[in-house]
Amino acid sequence: MADTNAKLTVNSEEYELPIIKGTLGRPVIDIAALQDSGFWSYDPGFKVTAPVESKITYIDGGKGELLHRGYPIDQLANNAEYLEVAYALIHGDLPNAEQKADFFEKIRKHTGVHDQLRKFFEGFRRDAHPMAIMVGVVGALSAFYHDNLDVSNEAHREITAIRLIAKMPTLAAMSYKYSQGEPFMYPRNDFSYAENFLYMMFATPADVDYEPNDVVTRAMDKIFTLHADHEQNASTSTVRLAGSTGANPYACIAAGIAALWGPSHGGANEAVLEMLDEIGTVENVPAFMEKVKSREVKLMGFGHRVYKNFDPRAQVMKETCDEVLGALGINDPKLELAMALEKIALEDPFFVERNLYPNVDFYSGIILKAIGIPTSMFTVIFSLARTSGWISHWLEMHSAPFKIGRPRQLYTGETHRDFVKVEDRK
Ligand code: CMC
Repeated sequence: MADTNAKLTVNSEEYELPIIKGTLGRPVIDIAALQDSGFWSYDPGFKVTAPVESKITYIDGGKGELLHRGYPIDQLANNAEYLEVAYALIHGDLPNAEQKADFFEKIRKHTGVHDQLRKFFEGFRRDAHPMAIMVGVVGALSAFYHDNLDVSNEAHREITAIRLIAKMPTLAAMSYKYSQGEPFMYPRNDFSYAENFLYMMFATPADVDYEPNDVVTRAMDKIFTLHADHEQNASTSTVRLAGSTGANPYACIAAGIAALWGPSHGGANEAVLEMLDEIGTVENVPAFMEKVKSREVKLMGFGHRVYKNFDPRAQVMKETCDEVLGALGINDPKLELAMALEKIALEDPFFVERNLYPNVDFYSGIILKAIGIPTSMFTVIFSLARTSGWISHWLEMHSAPFKIGRPRQLYTGETHRDFVKVEDRK
């Protein structure tokens, strides 16, 4: 709702720009009136630009607050199952008992993937990065669900969300099994979502009695919840942008996976472990810190575009980390190094002055390593969990009229010049 107007004078022309308040957070200035002003707005990195209105997730970076549909993340992570959170992201409220049973059943029914998908895996080298495989196989789902999929049909959109959330653990585990040269494991629909994922990752046909450990299962489910959504981050914005063209939603999610892969985004959890490898031992931390301060390298797993106080996901993740390491009796020098690094960074003025705190990826990498998940699978797990968020945003976009996302630019290239024949070019 527009409360009052901002005024902008450009070349002595005055523009009234409505100020719109949401339910929480900074109001926005609606700059659509600049359309005919002869100017574009310029905001590299979208630091102050809100391209959408959304009811799904709210972040207060100053307070370190994250709400999904109004529910604080710590309450969700400590009390709800990931699939309940996924339901809330999609439908707006946590499910009641009946809705929960119905939603969980629908997910269970769709965990399998078309048998032909196995052949796609065979096209990849065994040492292909599993994120490369995920971009390919999730994108390939669009070939299985295209002709009969009408994105303007609400029921079609809903089944798409169910299929994606249900199939992601299966595809993620398949990408791991393929890299190991082990046979794919079919989903076990009597298991919970997290148990089933661990089963498909770690069971083998020779050991089908594999029973996931309770502490590990709880930690896995929390990791899923803590990564479920994060409003208009780079990958979610990518899914929305791709979706704004009316593209196939499975292809849109594949685009989100590609955006997530980068080390500034979801790829950071893998980069944290690589960084620990590079540092080696606690004695090398001061020298590494000097490289960080001279901007030679970044301290991976630290800092966030929005959180300038603390990352509330990291707090829950740290508690889970302590729980898992304690319960599994893990004594890994790499994990000790991570803890030493965290302590030093939190006290160092360079980090204090810049409000750089550990983010969710710092601790998630450590937990995943303790669980026995290989580093290259870390971002795949992030993508599995973020699928509920991505598809919620895609659904929200499609539930009301929307425009194709089409930004402008500040052009600084050559001005007009005439074509020169190749033999006359310098
Ligand atoms: N290590 C060292 N210095 C840093 C770091 C870091 N991790 N992050 C930011 N800085 C410095 C940066 O050099 C700058 O210093 P100065 O003002 O002196 O030039 C200052 O802090 C502000 O940084 P920025 O680059 O303007 O911050 P940003 O909002 O553009 O970037 C970020 C946010 C997450 C990309 C960045 O902090 C980073 O690259 N962190 C490491 C990668 C990482 O852990 N990413 C996971 C983010 S959480 C999971 C997710 O949601 O994807």
